[in-house]
Amino acid sequence: MKKLFGILLLMVMALVIAACSSDSSSDGGEDADASDGGDSGESAESGGGGEGTVEIFSWWTGAGEEDGLLALIDLFEQEHPDITVDNAAVAGGAGTNAKAVLATRMQGDDPPSTFQVHGGAELNEGWVAADKMEPLNDFYEEQGWMDKFPQDLIDMVSKDGNIYSVPVNIHRGNVVFYNKQVFEDNGLEVPTSYDEFIEVADQLQDAGVTPLALGDKEAWTATQIFENILLGELGPDDYKSLWAGDIPFDDDRVVAAAEKFKTILGYVNEDHASRNWQDAAQLVGDGEAAMINMGDWAKGYFSNDLDLETNKDFGYFAFPETDGDFMVITDTFGLPKGVENPDEVKEFLSVLGSKEGQDAFNPLKGSIPARVDADESKYDEYGKDAMADFNESNLTPSLAHGSAAAEGFVTKANQAVNIFVTQLDVDNLINTLKNAASEL
Ligand code: GAL
Repeated sequence: MKKLFGILLLMVMALVIAACSSDSSSDGGEDADASDGGDSGESAESGGGGEGTVEIFSWWTGAGEEDGLLALIDLFEQEHPDITVDNAAVAGGAGTNAKAVLATRMQGDDPPSTFQVHGGAELNEGWVAADKMEPLNDFYEEQGWMDKFPQDLIDMVSKDGNIYSVPVNIHRGNVVFYNKQVFEDNGLEVPTSYDEFIEVADQLQDAGVTPLALGDKEAWTATQIFENILLGELGPDDYKSLWAGDIPFDDDRVVAAAEKFKTILGYVNEDHASRNWQDAAQLVGDGEAAMINMGDWAKGYFSNDLDLETNKDFGYFAFPETDGDFMVITDTFGLPKGVENPDEVKEFLSVLGSKEGQDAFNPLKGSIPARVDADESKYDEYGKDAMADFNESNLTPSLAHGSAAAEGFVTKANQAVNIFVTQLDVDNLINTLKNAASEL
């Protein structure tokens, strides 16, 4: 009964969310409205966009999110004028809303032709474990991709020897972007340690500038800060062991990370709970706040939407104590079981995984290409730095973006962090995470 109620609630939520999803179509001809939950005429057994249409499901809509996708769709449409693209994007950072809509559709055997999913646990412990995805090993061979993606990434989209999706990008989560003018005006140097960060934050606060912008209307933005503190405190190996369940959540270093998190939250803008990530990043763009920890989709937002120049208007540095580490977030797309036109979907995946496709998408998105042979000249200094860092760093999976742990744990962690942000109760956070650890 409880379960039935849960399913009904999820369906109602999905309908409400879908009805509210914004139309991201700005590209002519594309239908970016996911509110029909797929093509209405389709039977429950056949998902996807139907013959001649590829339905691309993501949360990339609006400012800071959609430019890369629209460029990729343009490229695909040029190469395949016979296939219509249905851009089914559901607004909400980190898939806050899209994931609920997707879950309802997948449960109803009405998958989109292809959908955005993070490499790691979100894909493997989620949709692959539920037997909802087609293996793509032969497709990778046909495309000649086996040596075109770093093995670490192929591993993130593989389970039991099968490959299940195609990475379009690599985002970095442990970046702090800062307003250069504000730093200069206050005579500040980029902080590398936690102590330096606090010194800088104190000086900014004394000068009447918000040190750190936060927009945790969606809780993942705060979870992202916490995971970066955890990485700094534990180091890359033990950080990974934490998600493998080999280090308990009441480990002294996890407790210390929660204490630091509490301190850092003392430096954020008062209206953080009513802002989303773009609204928070804008504070840094405007100089009302000095810094923001955000995945480098914020770089896309600064460049494309706010028209700010890399290393002139905004700078960037690794989250304190995490220099040499790279919090990997990879957006990937696969082939769900039961789509009507798998060959057309593969045509889309082929463009998405191509050098050209990745170089159309990533310079706009703020991410670096997942492929190893991208055209570096298409990326600005930020992109070039990120590429070099990716090759030299310890790679670690993001919790907030679905790679480190299965969705059940991520949801509980986000809820716990959301409560922590207002109550600042370290014991409570640690206990809640400890109780949720059985889901790892
Ligand atoms: C992440 C996703 C990024 C970006 C971000 C904000 O989960 O991997 O591509 O869209 O959310 O929505």
